[in-house]
Amino acid sequence: MKSQTAPKTYRVKSFGCQMNVYDGERMGELLAAQGLAPASEGEEAELVVLNTCHIREKAAEKVYSDIGRLVKAGRQAGREPMIAVAGCVAQAEGEEIMVRAPAVSMVVGPQAYHRLPEMLDKAVQGERATDTDMPAIAKFAALPERRKIGPAAFLTVQEGCDKFCTYCVVPYTRGAEISRLYSDLVAEAQRLVEAGAREITLLGQNVSAWAGEDAKGRVTGLAGLIRDLAAIDGLARIRYTTSHPADMDDDLIAAHGEVEKLMPFLHLPVQAGSDRVLRAMNRSHTAESYLKLLDRFRAARPDIALSGDFIVGFPGETEAEFAETLSLVDAVGYAQAFSFKYSPRPGTPAASMDGQIAAEVMDDRLQRLQAALNRDQHAFNRASVGRRCEVLVERKGKLPGQWLGKSPWLQSVWFDADCAIGDLVQVELGDAGPNSLEGRVLLREPA
Ligand code: 5AD
Ligand code: SF4
Repeated sequence: MKSQTAPKTYRVKSFGCQMNVYDGERMGELLAAQGLAPASEGEEAELVVLNTCHIREKAAEKVYSDIGRLVKAGRQAGREPMIAVAGCVAQAEGEEIMVRAPAVSMVVGPQAYHRLPEMLDKAVQGERATDTDMPAIAKFAALPERRKIGPAAFLTVQEGCDKFCTYCVVPYTRGAEISRLYSDLVAEAQRLVEAGAREITLLGQNVSAWAGEDAKGRVTGLAGLIRDLAAIDGLARIRYTTSHPADMDDDLIAAHGEVEKLMPFLHLPVQAGSDRVLRAMNRSHTAESYLKLLDRFRAARPDIALSGDFIVGFPGETEAEFAETLSLVDAVGYAQAFSFKYSPRPGTPAASMDGQIAAEVMDDRLQRLQAALNRDQHAFNRASVGRRCEVLVERKGKLPGQWLGKSPWLQSVWFDADCAIGDLVQVELGDAGPNSLEGRVLLREPA
C-alpha cells in the first residue's frame, strides 16, 4: 500500500449493541487525542472507522458493501478515505478482510483498539496493520480521560461471556468474561459525572457476572458496585445491561428495592419459551425458573419494567414450541423487547444442528411475536398514563420548545418546557403511543 496523507478528520460508524457504541465513543476520543477532528455532519471523513457487529445476519457482507461504497464516494470526491474495520467482524474475520478488501488499512478487534494510534502511524507510512489480540482488559488503562459527555452515558464494566449459548458468537469474538477493576470504574464514573453525565448505564455482555474487590478489599458483585456508585454526588440514575438469568443474585434483586438511583427497569433476555429449545440453546434456565426470577424482582420493586430478547426459528423449533414463547410473553407483559430471526453464526454449535427452519416460517413467527410484543409495549405505556415521574432531558424534539427524555422505565417522553439537556424534569405522563408518551411538566430541577 502507498503511504497516505495523515487524516485530519474521522468518523466512527458503530453498529450493533451498546458496548459497540461505548467502544465507538472511546475510539473517537482516542483519535481526537491524536489531533483528529470529528467530521461534521454531511462532510466526508478522511478516516472512517467501521465499528462492526457480528451477532446476526450477513454482517461481513454488509462490511464489504460499506467499504465499496466508501471507496466509490471517495474516488468521486477525489480522495479515498482511510478505512479501519473494528468491532466483532474485525475480530472474527480480520485476516479475510485484509485479503478481500485492499482498501482497508487497519483491522482492529474490540480488545485491541487502544493501539489504534500506532496502527494509524503505520497506515500513514503505507503499512497495513491487523490487531485482533485479546489481552486481558489492558485497553482501558491506555485510553484517554473522558472529557465531554451527554447526560446519559455508558460505562463498560465487564466484557466477554463464558455462557456459550449455542447460537451466539460473542464468546468467540469478545472472549472470556473479564471484570474491570472496581477502583477504575468508580474513578471513570466520577469523571463521567464531572463531564456532564447524570445517568450511567453499566455495560457488559454478561454484566451481572461482574465481580471485584471494593475499596475495603471485600469481594463484591454488581450490586455492591451499584450501591457504591450511587454515592456519587450529581449522579441521578443507574442502569445496567445485559444480564443472564443464571447470574442474578439475591443482592442484585435486593438492590432494586433499596437503591433509589437504580432505575426500575430490567433487561433480562429469555430467548424462548420452550424448555426443550432453551436446553438446545444451552441457556441453563427454564421458562418457569425465568418467570420465578422475575417474580422476585417484582417483589423487590413492584413497578419494575421488564425487557427481554427473543430468537424465533432456532433449529428444530416446532410450531407448538414457538407457541410456548407466545405464552411466556403473555405471562410476563414486557414493557419493551427485542426479537430476532435465528441466524446461523459460523463456528457456533447451532449452525450445524439439524432442523434449520425455513425463512418463511421464521418471518411468520417473528411477525406474530412482534405483534404480541408491540401490543404489550403499548399496553404498558397506556398503563403509565397519569404516573408522575422524572424525565432526564436528553435532546431537543422536532418542534421548537419541545424536548425528549427518558422516564425511569426507559420510555421516551416528549414535552414542552423551558429546560436544558441534562435537566431532570418532573412530569405527569399523558397521551401514550406505542413508542413514546407525552409529558406534562410539573416542576424542573436544574442540572
Ligand atoms: N441469531 C439471532 N439472534 C441472536 N442473538 C444472538 N445471537 C443470535 C443469532 N445467532 C440475539 C439474542 C441476544 C441478542 C443480543 O441477540 O437474542 O440476546
Ligand atoms: Fe451470547 Fe449467551 Fe453470552 Fe448472551 S449469554 S453473550 S447470548 S453466549
